[in-house]
Amino acid sequence: MNNLLLNNLNFKKTEKVPVWLMRQAGRYMNEYHTIKNKFNSFIEMCKNEEALIEITLQPIKKFDFDAAIIFSDILLILDAINIRVDFIQGKGPVVDNLKAIKNIKLLPKDLDLEKVNPCYNAIKNVKKELINKPLIGFAAAPWTLATYFIEGYLTKDLSIIKSFSYKNPEKMDLIINLFSDLIIKHLVNQIEAGVDLIQIFDTHSYQMDYNMNKKYSIQQMKKISKGIKKKHPNIPIIYYTKNFQFDDNNIEEYINCLSLNSNVNLKRETKYFKKDFCFQGNLDPFLLVEGGKIMVEEINNILNIMKDKFFIFNLGHGVLPQTPVKNVLRLIETVRNFKK
Ligand code: CP3
Repeated sequence: MNNLLLNNLNFKKTEKVPVWLMRQAGRYMNEYHTIKNKFNSFIEMCKNEEALIEITLQPIKKFDFDAAIIFSDILLILDAINIRVDFIQGKGPVVDNLKAIKNIKLLPKDLDLEKVNPCYNAIKNVKKELINKPLIGFAAAPWTLATYFIEGYLTKDLSIIKSFSYKNPEKMDLIINLFSDLIIKHLVNQIEAGVDLIQIFDTHSYQMDYNMNKKYSIQQMKKISKGIKKKHPNIPIIYYTKNFQFDDNNIEEYINCLSLNSNVNLKRETKYFKKDFCFQGNLDPFLLVEGGKIMVEEINNILNIMKDKFFIFNLGHGVLPQTPVKNVLRLIETVRNFKK
């Protein structure tokens, strides 16, 4: 196995910097559209084992990234507790939450395996073909999953979920706890199917105030990490956030790596951490759209700042659909040519 990425997550020094990109499979690749056009909906495609295997491997074949990420979506968990999710072109996900929110206690406590088994079977098969690279499994963090569930269709300021949380703290606790339990189950299932590490996406946590963040993000991350590490103590965990509230939260004790958005100043913020900790990030996805000298300079800038740390090169957020393929090739070439 090419262990460049796993070595950094296990705090072993490497000569080169590993690189993969969030949403490395997706709409910027023609190959992705060819498969997607065969399906009536995105969620249907997320439950088709063959499509998942092929899409997961597309960016590996084309770009030779240092890791693959299983193709799926964070909202599959909602589908697996019988909540309808529609991905509407040009609009994004819409969640049919009306009945479920009225009767939160009646929500299923387990994942419908018929909905999630294609993901686990795809993992088993990708692992057979991906002989020399790690495979990443993933899920949302509970707050981020709850934003889609409670809001139905996301507001810009998350006003619906924030008002719901302040007005109905008991109900919100029930939802967050249920989601944390489902997330643990989904991640453990992915690990048992064969993924080598996991990433937890908390894309919307930065919109909470300090107290709410502590309760719905930090505490839940500790619970999720404990739940996973009880069964699989050595599985590396990456936590993605646009937030920076870690200096007093001992995050090193429950995760291996923080994946940071481009709004974070890596040079300043990484100082808060003791030595054995890994970081991932954080090129602005819009610089990857732009390409050219300005992109190459910023990649080298990030690599220089992080050269003495355990580090995985990535974007601050997912690859944008308008990204030119040639810029992705240039990014990889720049990272691979960098000498520490
Ligand atoms: O990283 C990968 O390559 C694996 C695949 C992956 C997808 N979604 C595929 C996808 C991953 C890791 C995700 C995570 C995800 N999904 C997050 C967390 C990370 C982030 O980007 O913040 C979130 C918030 C979602 C929810 C979601 N799924 C949204 C908001 C949308 C629509 C808007 C958008 O950004 O496209 C999706 C749909 C989705 N998930 C697509 C893909 C490739 C596009 C579907 C299409 O082809 O139309």
